Amino acid sequence: MQWTSLNTVREKYLSFFESKGHLRLPSYPLIPQNDKSLLLINSGMAPMKKFFTGEVEPPRRRVTTCQKCIRTPDFERVGHTARHGTFFEMLGNFSFGDYFKEQAIPWAWEFLTEVMEIPSDLLWPSVYENDDEAYNIWKDKIGVPEKHIVRLGKEDNFWEHGPGPCGPCTEIYFDRGEKYGCGRPDCKPGCDCDRYMEIWNNVFSQFNNDGKGNYTELVQKNIDTGMGLERLACVMQGVDNMFEVDTIRKILDRVCEISGKTYGNDKDNDISIRVITDHTRSAMFMIADGVLPSNEGRGYVLRRIIRRACRHGKLLGIGRAFMTDTVAVAIGESCGAYPELSEERDYVLTVLAIVE
Ligand code: ALA
Repeated sequence: MQWTSLNTVREKYLSFFESKGHLRLPSYPLIPQNDKSLLLINSGMAPMKKFFTGEVEPPRRRVTTCQKCIRTPDFERVGHTARHGTFFEMLGNFSFGDYFKEQAIPWAWEFLTEVMEIPSDLLWPSVYENDDEAYNIWKDKIGVPEKHIVRLGKEDNFWEHGPGPCGPCTEIYFDRGEKYGCGRPDCKPGCDCDRYMEIWNNVFSQFNNDGKGNYTELVQKNIDTGMGLERLACVMQGVDNMFEVDTIRKILDRVCEISGKTYGNDKDNDISIRVITDHTRSAMFMIADGVLPSNEGRGYVLRRIIRRACRHGKLLGIGRAFMTDTVAVAIGESCGAYPELSEERDYVLTVLAIVE
């Protein structure tokens, strides 16, 4: 297992699934299209709900993407922990009524153990409590020892996010070692300590949730996977959290340069440094996709993000506008994968220069 940059992990994932017959599509914009149930795209599957339900014919039955995602329920915690962030990239391979469990599970395993060369004894699958089919694929087809396969309940292993396609899932956890653990003898995936980190979620999208808790069986059986790019990059770089991943660390280092502070020296400064680093990424991607700060909806989310970054800039003693500077670094790190960042560079920097 070799140190691998975040940009290379993304490319390896997408080309692996292309080699398995998937069509690579660019990330959909963060602004949902024809979907009023969401303010901002929050997962790889969200822009493709109609391919899952069969209402719209997909360009191919196998698709792979790296999707820009924003999740803000933990907005106020961002910075206070090294775990929380508002922006992340989700890698996914999707089957719209094409392959199902028998193929999705071996491909996930092949990618992690053969392409990424993660030692198999550090990986722990979990399955939905009564999903014997998935359990047996892990046990018999992949050969994972039974003591490494965990059955978990609805809370952990049934995926849904508001209305739309959903279903039971099988996840893959990476064992970060005893130093992250609680030390309890029965510590394993599902434990609330930091030892086992979920890196892959493989959802068997079989149901549609109408948003009121009514589930109907979908006509077709689908696969919806989600792999947090930043999390896998942490594993591949042997670092503790996403702020230390190469491309994100570049932004963080720029915040330190601008403020004259050193990361890791002072708890409060570290909080502010992380807030600005994370919010730089979300503001940049949102503006590039056409969100403008305002008093409602997603515009309000953006406004809060920019305001909070500026407040933490003041706490660090930065006596000037700085987001154009941190965003310029972030554009340089991500524009290879997201050409819209190069195309909209001047626009993004102009918007920030006006509103900051
Ligand atoms: N849609 C699933 C997730 O976001 C894969 O975890």
